[in-house]
Amino acid sequence: MNIILLGRPGAGKGTQCKAIAERYHIPQISTGDILRASVREKTYLGLKAQEYMDKGALVPDELVVEIVVERLNKADCRNGFIFDGFPRNMGQAEVLHKTLKKMGKKIDHVLYFDVEPKEIVKRLSGRRVCRKCGETYHIIYNMPTNIGICDKCGGDLYQREDDKEETIVARLDVYEEYTAPLIDCYRGKGLLRTINGVGGVDQVKKQIMDILDKDEIGSKVST
Ligand code: AP5
Repeated sequence: MNIILLGRPGAGKGTQCKAIAERYHIPQISTGDILRASVREKTYLGLKAQEYMDKGALVPDELVVEIVVERLNKADCRNGFIFDGFPRNMGQAEVLHKTLKKMGKKIDHVLYFDVEPKEIVKRLSGRRVCRKCGETYHIIYNMPTNIGICDKCGGDLYQREDDKEETIVARLDVYEEYTAPLIDCYRGKGLLRTINGVGGVDQVKKQIMDILDKDEIGSKVST
């Protein structure tokens, strides 16, 4: 199964991506996570990307596309993959389409997480992330047992630089201008499934699994 998760920043893509990856044993390809790791490691890519990320702007396509194409060629993508945060504009979608075509692959599902901007601001301003393992929490909706400490690995929780309120507004504007047009693009191709992203994490998960389980059972029956 080759899947794209689409939606506003903070719509819950990263949270659900982990669950999908675990259930179907396919890798999560999160361009935001890859870029943040490069920033931490101070690589050439990280140094270039940081100024864009801190402002809430998109990192230039020529930097992002290369890491995605390289990642898709790794052996663990053979049976499928999930994109979280890619493609982010029509240019990236076009490159992805051409790359997959060359590899004899295609996208099976585009899951669009529908969450209004007002809710997004609440989610992102309250998000906390583990410095060590990347697990995501929220100060109200998804609290860790001990404040500031990750339940999974005991690492420190921090607030992402781009989760400050003024940057959240900039990210939402960038989303409307560059990423939202992909909704109609994938709807036109018959791939888009809309997920109501409002409700508990488990409620959202159930909607996704209902769609993907049906597909998996269908593919098993037809083979
Ligand atoms: P990226 O890391 O991709 O950030 P994003 O798209 O802005 O998405 P987020 O990670 O902020 O949100 P999410 O939808 O994953 O939500 P989450 O599950 O964490 O990108 C960061 C930057 O990198 C970009 O601005 C750009 O500069 C650059 N970049 C990345 N990819 C790029 C690309 N392809 N091209 C160019 N530049 C690129 O949830 C959010 C919060 O809500 C959490 O606290 C969570 O606990 C909570 N929550 C989740 N689900 C629920 C629920 N159902 N109910 C209540 N709370 C919930």
